[in-house]
Amino acid sequence: MARPGLLLLLLLLALQPLQPSSLPRPDTTEGKVTIVGLILSALERATLFLEERLPGVNLDGVVGFRVLEAQLQGVQEEWAADPLLGPLSLRTRQLADKLAALLRRSIFYLELSDPRYLREFRPSLQPGFWKLPRTWTHTNTSLVYPVLEPEDSFSEESSDACLVQLLGTGNSSQPCRIPDFCRTLVTQPNCSGYRLSHQLLFFLWARMQGCTEGLFHQSQHYISVFCANMMELNRRAEAFGYAYPTRDLFMENIMLCGISGFSDFYKLRWLEAILSWQRPWEGCFGKPAAKEEDPPTAPPRRPHVLRVKRREKQFTDGCSCHSTAVAVAALGGFLYVLAESPPAKGELRLSTRPPLSGS
Ligand SMILES: *[C@@H]1O[C@H](CO)[C@@H](O)[C@H](O)[C@H]1NC(C)=O
Ligand SMILES: *[C@@H]1O[C@H](CO)[C@@H](O)[C@H](O)[C@H]1NC(C)=O
Ligand SMILES: *[C@@H]1O[C@H](CO)[C@@H](O)[C@H](O)[C@H]1NC(C)=O
Repeated sequence: MARPGLLLLLLLLALQPLQPSSLPRPDTTEGKVTIVGLILSALERATLFLEERLPGVNLDGVVGFRVLEAQLQGVQEEWAADPLLGPLSLRTRQLADKLAALLRRSIFYLELSDPRYLREFRPSLQPGFWKLPRTWTHTNTSLVYPVLEPEDSFSEESSDACLVQLLGTGNSSQPCRIPDFCRTLVTQPNCSGYRLSHQLLFFLWARMQGCTEGLFHQSQHYISVFCANMMELNRRAEAFGYAYPTRDLFMENIMLCGISGFSDFYKLRWLEAILSWQRPWEGCFGKPAAKEEDPPTAPPRRPHVLRVKRREKQFTDGCSCHSTAVAVAALGGFLYVLAESPPAKGELRLSTRPPLSGS
């Protein structure tokens, strides 16, 4: 087994960007075509992963690919008329068509594996549910919480129950009508981690559903507060070298705040980091591929304080449904933001600036 291990290591070294910025700048057509090509290759490999594991992929894993499909459609509309990007546009369409077929097939397996969860969350899998931003803004650092609550109180069950209320897919619920305990849960300040990203998810879905009454008058306010804090967490994740368990949340934050219209989540160096995390053989994201000091024959280590999402599904080879889903939707967001800002207009959405201390 030594030789394949060595090969894998060499391949990883070849794929892993060693310099801080080996990606070209996206403000020329050539640079943009190169970056788009790299993202599309990563997405094609991830889609092969979805195809190969389709019967075992859970609903959370499938949703990310539905988001990606919406992003690919948005990109195609922008590129269809551009002769330089024509070939990329064709590749994008082929990928979107393949995904559409896979997503239809996935319903069959989800029906078998978890029919109730499918019934409750089916709207998020429908074509047209995920709407892409038409205008962009930046996060506002003055909305960052001075102090965070301890993270141990997140209950995925309550969070799911509130999403079901919002979608109106429970036994006796109507869309956009939520009980008081949900209102308290989703507006509570000082949260971090998955609790925070699920608070954002709630208001994002409210927007997708067209909820505007009552609490939802303030949707934009809450979305701005949550994304300002998710940006802060992502900056910290970067400062700490993207230690493995934080990568999943880091990508989830980019996926969700990107779709919420915060273009400062689409940083070139964050794109580069995400591309480097894809496992080259499987096309998935998840546990980093085995290194020398961590051979595949070693007994699996007990997951320590890592919070395991209830619906998370990790394959035995370390590929994670959830991480792959949030990765493809984050990468699809990079494609979309690139398509939305043609270099001809001289405006760059991709921020390449290093983080400013204290801002
Ligand atoms: C940022 O948020 C603060 C507090 O709500 C507000 O006063 C300020 O105008 C905002 N800045 C921008 C640029 O929107
Ligand atoms: C959030 O943190 C701020 C600042 O520490 C504090 O004043 C506030 O009471 C906290 N809110 C909640 C609901 O814990
Ligand atoms: C909804 O109804 C089904 C079947 O009647 C039942 O099994 C399930 O527990 C109910 N769910 C809730 C949240 O009440």
